[in-house]
Amino acid sequence: MSIVDVAQAPAQHPISEPAPWWRQAAVYQIYPRSFSDANGDGLGDLPGITSKADYLHDLGIDAVWLSPFYPSALADGGYDVADYRNVDPRLGTLTDFDAMLDALHTRGIRVVVDIVPNHTSDQHAWFQEALASGRGSSARERYIFREGSGPDGALPPTDWVAAFGGSSWERVADGQWYLHNFAIEQPDLNWSNPEVRADFLTTLRFWSDRGVDGFRIDVAHMLTKDLTEPLPSQAQLDALPRDGRHPMVDRDDVHEVYAEWRQVFNSYDPPRTAVAEAWVDKARVPLYASPDGLGQAFNFDLLEADFDAGQFETVVRDNLTLAEMSGSSSTWVLSNHDVVRHATRYGLPQPARDDTGRPARKHGADWVISGGVTPVLDRPAGERRARAATLFMLGLPGSSYLYQGEELGLHEVAEIPAGDRQDPTFFRSAGTDLGRDGCRVPLPWETGNDGGSAFGFGTGGSHLPQPAWFGDYSVAAQSTDPLSSLELYRSALSLRRTLQTGEHLEWIPTGRSDVLRYRRPNGWEIVTNFGTEPYAVDRSDVLLTSRELEAGTLPGEATVWLGGHGME
Ligand code: GLC
Repeated sequence: MSIVDVAQAPAQHPISEPAPWWRQAAVYQIYPRSFSDANGDGLGDLPGITSKADYLHDLGIDAVWLSPFYPSALADGGYDVADYRNVDPRLGTLTDFDAMLDALHTRGIRVVVDIVPNHTSDQHAWFQEALASGRGSSARERYIFREGSGPDGALPPTDWVAAFGGSSWERVADGQWYLHNFAIEQPDLNWSNPEVRADFLTTLRFWSDRGVDGFRIDVAHMLTKDLTEPLPSQAQLDALPRDGRHPMVDRDDVHEVYAEWRQVFNSYDPPRTAVAEAWVDKARVPLYASPDGLGQAFNFDLLEADFDAGQFETVVRDNLTLAEMSGSSSTWVLSNHDVVRHATRYGLPQPARDDTGRPARKHGADWVISGGVTPVLDRPAGERRARAATLFMLGLPGSSYLYQGEELGLHEVAEIPAGDRQDPTFFRSAGTDLGRDGCRVPLPWETGNDGGSAFGFGTGGSHLPQPAWFGDYSVAAQSTDPLSSLELYRSALSLRRTLQTGEHLEWIPTGRSDVLRYRRPNGWEIVTNFGTEPYAVDRSDVLLTSRELEAGTLPGEATVWLGGHGME
């Protein structure tokens, strides 16, 4: 991928045409089971979200993205969906959903819901029917069933390894095997089956009709597969190029599915939006972000980068170029429900990297395994860098996706006893990865945990245990403290609304390899000092800083926003 300076790129929207909201939105991800618990059963719910509508409004976000709230046996935190067109009774009802939607819409907050099309839950009516119907039935044709290998078919059809560890195949009572690329309880759907395709169109219409504004598409790169026999081995699969013809991932024909979806999205006014979770080669991201397809795609590069000027600059340049290629805007992510929180990552030593430059192991995984003991977490450094990185990100053109709790500067929770862990990764990886529970611990709203109030999460405790230090990071502890992380996010998001303008970025030389500076079209400038030596700032029109300036200089590991020149 060649890198061009997008400052030279032409405008994407004529001035007369307002850009659609999603191009430069601040989208806040809610993991519903851990946000706020209104009915005191220890599990967050939709009325809990409604009760925090003012909090979300005051935070200054443009949209929320809800991780799955559908009926689920929770084998994978709700990404095992048993019914795509309903609400888990533990989280509420469709009426509660409508009330939540209304409360958010009334406050100008749009709502994006998660669609999980690669697999259903094994509790889904279709899978139960497939189990009951037996070999060769049309019910089994909705999934991927095969005979086993070995003389009596007692071995899995192939040696494929699932994302959460162990075999990708599970045997059912009559001896056939089904494919599950993730947990055993998440059978992969057969996207060659027209019935499967039609049903997802119904689901998209169901939520669009209710008024949702967009969709986040889970594992968008894996739906279609070419499982023509003989099936390749895992080693053969790994060796195949990912050029659109791979049997399992990022196939060209998945875009036929999204072209159909786009027609549904565009049949609404305003058109519904979608963002793809697509772990694919960079050069193929624009296919997902195309206006004929999903329209936007996640870029997880910042999330995998060290707190390092060179890496951040490359990530920004590359992704703005990719956005230009697709006609979409870029996305930026520092944290989500699948990774160690960024305040913690930045307080740990930088991860070793593989040949492709990606972290060789999930960053922070070893620290979690040690119970949060080794390597030693430098909390203040992590928080300082997290604040600086956040202000760097929020200045960029495009959409920033924030994960619940990051506005509190929250750290990953490492001290979760084995008996309380929920993530399938923990159960399937033989201790090499304890999983993602540590970023999914229910949010602290209040300073105390009196009488089982779970730091204000709810009166019935917390489905994942909260550590004692959570109180210090609570909303109540931080509100009105101008130096707190929460107030920094509030100020930044509120300013961003007035400052966000055309999708241009111009790099300004700083004379330092550890300081990045960029300007947006209205004179808004963002300066981030990734190093430790102070950097002299030549402008006095300071809008916001992640650390106080010292005699006009930006201290190390800090970002400043400057503004005022010709701001509209
Ligand atoms: C996505 C989700 C993750 C889930 C997986 C399987 O990567 O973000 O949480 O476990 O898909 O659905």
